[in-house]
Amino acid sequence: MAYTVPKLKSFTPAALDKAVEKLLAALKLEAAAVKNEADWKVFRDRWMARKNGVLTEINDLWLKAAPKESKREVGQRVNELKAAVTATVEKDRTGVTIAPAPAVGKVGAVLLSVSAEPAALDITLPGNRRPLGSEHPVIKTMHEIVSVFRNLGYSVEEGPVIETDYYNFEALNFPPNHPARDTQDTLFIARQESKPQRDRLLLRTHTSPVQIRTMEKMKPPVRIVIPGKVHRNDPPDASHSPMFHQVEGFMVDARIAFSDLKGVLTHFLRQIFERDAGVRFRPSFFPFTEPSAEIDVQCVICGGSGANKTGQTCRVCKATGWLEILGAGMIDPAVFKFVGYDPEKVSGFAFGMGVERIAMLKYGIDDIRLFFQNDLRFLRQFS
Ligand code: PHE
Repeated sequence: MAYTVPKLKSFTPAALDKAVEKLLAALKLEAAAVKNEADWKVFRDRWMARKNGVLTEINDLWLKAAPKESKREVGQRVNELKAAVTATVEKDRTGVTIAPAPAVGKVGAVLLSVSAEPAALDITLPGNRRPLGSEHPVIKTMHEIVSVFRNLGYSVEEGPVIETDYYNFEALNFPPNHPARDTQDTLFIARQESKPQRDRLLLRTHTSPVQIRTMEKMKPPVRIVIPGKVHRNDPPDASHSPMFHQVEGFMVDARIAFSDLKGVLTHFLRQIFERDAGVRFRPSFFPFTEPSAEIDVQCVICGGSGANKTGQTCRVCKATGWLEILGAGMIDPAVFKFVGYDPEKVSGFAFGMGVERIAMLKYGIDDIRLFFQNDLRFLRQFS
């Protein structure tokens, strides 16, 4: 039978305690039966509604009806019951434990013995997790590359992704209309025709313009690495992306020789790949270096044999046993003239590499587009 607030025949402390105990037992029982939001609303109204709620009734039937000499005793208990009912209703709603009414006075004591509530705040519960995230594999590889050079005393410089024709081409010894420009399919910013060609904007096709920007503001000796984003007008496929990353580097001082370039890059490749991997320099051409080279490392997949364990040809190096990793060379004297360095007094080398290609080789990834699809199943493997 549902609990109803009785009229009190006696207002002695013992009689009051008994009435309080019955009310609290009913409260506990009904609170335990609350299963959902709708139940809870009914429960709240039954106990707390201004009109005909249990709290209103004890106010009327107990406090108002009490003789003058019992008012104090009854009032104290009614106040404590109000606190107990409010706390229970609150707790049921949020599912969070709220402290039972303070264990003072007679009602508090009864309440504690009726309902042994758990502690208000359990500090042993796990806290809210804030997932930290992790580096993207391209950024991670870029940091690894940069740190090899930092350990060799290089400083880091950066430059703009939207670049002028002058820095991307002209100052790097690509004269206007020179066919070497065609080797870097360029994305041009629209409506630049009214400007002189050297001021027209484009998306940089390599990080080499930052060589020029750095030499313009620093005197030799310089040792610099330049990580950054570049764009080319290449349709995406397994090995091409219109946006990718490069790390550039260069050194200028008195009497820098090709042997310095060889030593630095051999060290770098053995740090990034295997310690004893073979390294090969092949003659090449870049307008801003002379002589120029392309640098290969022994295939990290087949170990240079050109075949995998079961004797099939290695697809990664196309059975050549070598992987092309870097472009490099001795900085062309014509470049020094653009930045006000004296080619009679200083010499230097420069190199540039694609970050995605190195990440693909390190992690065995066969499609560059995976880096840019933001598929968490792919990205989580690197966290
Ligand atoms: N900037 C060249 C490229 O993107 C690479 C390179 C850098 C070559 C520095 C030589 C020296 O192809």
